[in-house]
Amino acid sequence: MTANYADRWGVITGASSGIGAEFARQLAARGMHLVLTARRRELLQNLAEELYTAHGTKTEIIIGDLSDPAEPQRICGRIKELGVDIELLVNNAGIGDVSTIEDADSQRMLDIIQVNITALTELTYLALPEMLDRGTGGVINVASVAAFQPVAYNGVYSASKTYVLHFSESLWAEARKRGVVVMAFCPGTTHTDFFVESGVPDWLEKHSSQSPAVAVRAALKGYDKRRQYYVSGWKNYILSLLVRLATRATAVKGSVKFFKPKKPKDGGEK
Ligand SMILES: NC(=O)c1ccc[n+]([C@@H]2O[C@H](COP(=O)([O-])OP(=O)(O)OC[C@H]3O[C@@H](n4cnc5c(N)ncnc54)[C@H](OP(=O)(O)O)[C@@H]3O)[C@@H](O)[C@H]2O)c1
Repeated sequence: MTANYADRWGVITGASSGIGAEFARQLAARGMHLVLTARRRELLQNLAEELYTAHGTKTEIIIGDLSDPAEPQRICGRIKELGVDIELLVNNAGIGDVSTIEDADSQRMLDIIQVNITALTELTYLALPEMLDRGTGGVINVASVAAFQPVAYNGVYSASKTYVLHFSESLWAEARKRGVVVMAFCPGTTHTDFFVESGVPDWLEKHSSQSPAVAVRAALKGYDKRRQYYVSGWKNYILSLLVRLATRATAVKGSVKFFKPKKPKDGGEK
């Protein structure tokens, strides 16, 4: 079964680059009109033009910084003013930060929680009631394979994605009999700016990655199947299952190798 896309409206957070921009392309190709939101206006404008040229997509751009607690309410208020009924909300905006305990910037850590958890939660609760009233629609919350285990040097990010996975699955169970799907999407390493933004610019050179196009195709396949979560790629899926067989100590000790700095500063793990 395919979800409803044609001539309905989708809202994508973090639509200016990477996975979010690719959601916009693939949803536009399925006939959706789109509200695109992020901080970088020019990228959103270029994307809107591209989608109009390719598919005649109607778009609305809302600039917003989701690290500001007031933004989810404001963005939803603006969507209401536009008269848009949201058929699909894609909570994609997300940030990470790889650092040692000593180097961690506490404000950055709080921003991760605000963007990845708090804003996503608020937008989800603002969008869902009308979908439930109509008996149609859904939310795709972008989590990560990092949701399946704690990750050393990336603790706030991996914990934030575990939250996204559990939150989305819980809502899926509540909403599924009412015509509405809430799905957590768990990509593995995907070729975007994310690792530069997270402070590990050479990650993509050393690890195989999926393209955003492959990842988003997987996400929409899972959404069409009305799954509660969907992992992109069978290797990532197997790894997500294997981690459940390991003890928690084994899993977290095994994660140290991913992001351990080459030359730990004083007090770093030896
Ligand atoms: N790449 C991967 O390997 C990977 C793997 C698993 C999960 N993910 C998840 O996929 C999602 C998309 O990431 P990506 O890989 O596509 O990275 P990306 O290219 O860096 O995209 C991040 C998006 O989030 C937006 N964003 C960041 N901070 C924001 C803020 N304060 N307010 C509003 N928007 C903000 C950015 O837009 P502006 O800068 O214009 O605001 C951008 O559009 C994230 O949730 C990430 O955790 C990525």
